Amino acid sequence: MKLKILVGTMTSTADYVAQAIQMDCADLIDDIEIMLMDNLDISAFHANQAENALYLICTSTYGQGDVPDNARALYESMAAQPQFLGHVRYGVIALGDRTYLQTFCFGGKKFDERLQDLGARRIGEVWCHDASTGTMPETEGTEWCRQWLTLALQTLQTAASSQTTA
Ligand SMILES: Cc1cc2nc3c(=O)[nH]c(=O)nc-3n(C[C@H](O)[C@H](O)[C@H](O)COP(=O)(O)O)c2cc1C
Repeated sequence: MKLKILVGTMTSTADYVAQAIQMDCADLIDDIEIMLMDNLDISAFHANQAENALYLICTSTYGQGDVPDNARALYESMAAQPQFLGHVRYGVIALGDRTYLQTFCFGGKKFDERLQDLGARRIGEVWCHDASTGTMPETEGTEWCRQWLTLALQTLQTAASSQTTA
C-alpha cells in the first residue's frame, strides 16, 4: 500500500508537514510519495493511480478562504472535468489560522467537499491545524497521521476481507 500526499502550499508549511510524515510514518506503510499539487489535475485520482493507494490532501488556506495558488489547477479541474472517484480513499490535513474566523481551514475543507461530491470516500475526520496557537504543525500533524494511517489501513483491510468472503 502506498500513501500519496498531495501538497497545496504558499510558504511551504504544508510541504514540511508532508516531509515530517514521510520520515515519521515509514514504519506504518510500504511507500510514501509527496506530490506538490503544481500542474496536477483530476487524473492524479484516476483508477490506475489510485490502485493500492491512499491519498492525503495536505493544504493550507489563502486569500479569503481559497486554496493556495499551486492547488488551484487541481481544484478547478475537479469541477471542470468531473469524474466518479468512488475508488479513492483519502484523508485531509487542513492548515489555517483561526484569526481568519469566517474561513478557518477552508482550503482543506473545500478539497474535502469536492472529493465527496465526486464519490471519493474520506477516512476519519478532517484534521485542522490552527497557526494562531503557535503549535508545530509538523509535530501535531505526524501524531495525527500515525493514528489516521492505522485507522485507514484497518478500514481497507476490513473492506478487502469482506469482499473475499462475499
Ligand atoms: C495572506 C494570508 C491569508 C490567509 N488566509 C487564511 C484563511 O482565509 N483561512 C485560514 O484558516 N488561514 C488563512 N491563512 C493562514 C495560513 O493558511 C496558515 O498560516 C498556513 O499554516 C500556511 O501554510 P503554507 O505555508 O503551507 O501555505 C492565511 C495566511 C496568509 C498569510
